[in-house]
Amino acid sequence: MAGGVSVPHLAQAVSEAGGLGFLAAGYKTADGMYQEIKQLRGLMTRPFGVNLFMPQPEYADRGAVEIYTHQLAGEAAWYETELGDPDSGRDDGYDAKLAVLLDNPVPIVSFHFGVPSSEVLESLRRVGTFTLVTATTPEEALAVERAGADAVIAQGVEAGGHQGTHRDVPENDGSGIGLLSLIAQVRETVNLPIVAAGGIMRGSQIAAALAAGATAAQLGTAFLATPESGADAVHKQALTNPLFTRTELTRAFSGRPARGLVNRFMREHGPYAPAAYPEVHHITSPLRKKAATAGDAQGMALWAGQGHRMARELPAGQLVEVLAAELDAARTALSGKGDLR
Ligand SMILES: Cc1cc2nc3c(=O)[nH]c(=O)nc-3n(C[C@H](O)[C@H](O)[C@H](O)COP(=O)(O)O)c2cc1C
Repeated sequence: MAGGVSVPHLAQAVSEAGGLGFLAAGYKTADGMYQEIKQLRGLMTRPFGVNLFMPQPEYADRGAVEIYTHQLAGEAAWYETELGDPDSGRDDGYDAKLAVLLDNPVPIVSFHFGVPSSEVLESLRRVGTFTLVTATTPEEALAVERAGADAVIAQGVEAGGHQGTHRDVPENDGSGIGLLSLIAQVRETVNLPIVAAGGIMRGSQIAAALAAGATAAQLGTAFLATPESGADAVHKQALTNPLFTRTELTRAFSGRPARGLVNRFMREHGPYAPAAYPEVHHITSPLRKKAATAGDAQGMALWAGQGHRMARELPAGQLVEVLAAELDAARTALSGKGDLR
């Protein structure tokens, strides 16, 4: 979880409890990523993963970006800041990060927003790294398999944060595919291990994903509320605040569809935000920072999956243990040997 959420202490707590912690490198520089890997290695010897964003091709309609900038002028005045420069950078140093990961191999690397080249996947395999790539449709899963990744992350539309859609287009209406249906479709399309992601908050849901054909499950929102997560306190509290009743996919904050708690900013700007990532991400960056500093949940990106109300404020290691116990109980019940609550 990029944006300062998946900090080394969170990854450590998850991995040490028997899960698989990840460091998010999407918005980090290559050196920032390297420092976090070093820090995590100093904290533990368990396996972990690093997540990268694929660089996005230039596709934004510049006119639409300009109009959106004008439409956000009132926000800039309200939060007493300037809007960010839409051209602050396209790929956050993807090649440099890959070079670091080839020189200092980590157990697992996952990719979001597209498929790396076969050469990149092969070079990671040669240094002993297992690769995962997100897919949101069976067609995207096929592209992942053809490129030669070791496994595919099937990300359902319930998922919090950005959809890992390979190519965002303005016609993308954000309807998406629900997780259980997606797992079944991906399973009938490719011959790769499937990691299920989206809306999973309980061990019983992991059991359901495994029963549908997944090999593992990936949880984001469930870990947002843990004390180790680097999420802003306002964001953590909002997950279970009855004021926030629903989530929606929006381009309002970044220009790419991402699921968050519906707040004022999303309601006012979501309907006309253009398909323009990372331009919109850069433009809104100072607004999001100012809103967070002011403790204003109505102006922040409150990324959250559909299961947000079920978030538990447990320490991350304990949460992994509770999830594992719930998974065991559900599997026993499914096998007809126990009660499923
Ligand atoms: C705050 C937040 C940040 C996220 N950042 C990333 C990211 O940097 N890279 C990525 O591959 N997925 C990211 N995701 C998506 C997760 O990998 C995963 O698909 C999602 O959390 C699963 O749905 P859930 O949140 O309902 O568990 C993020 C999700 C959240 C909630």
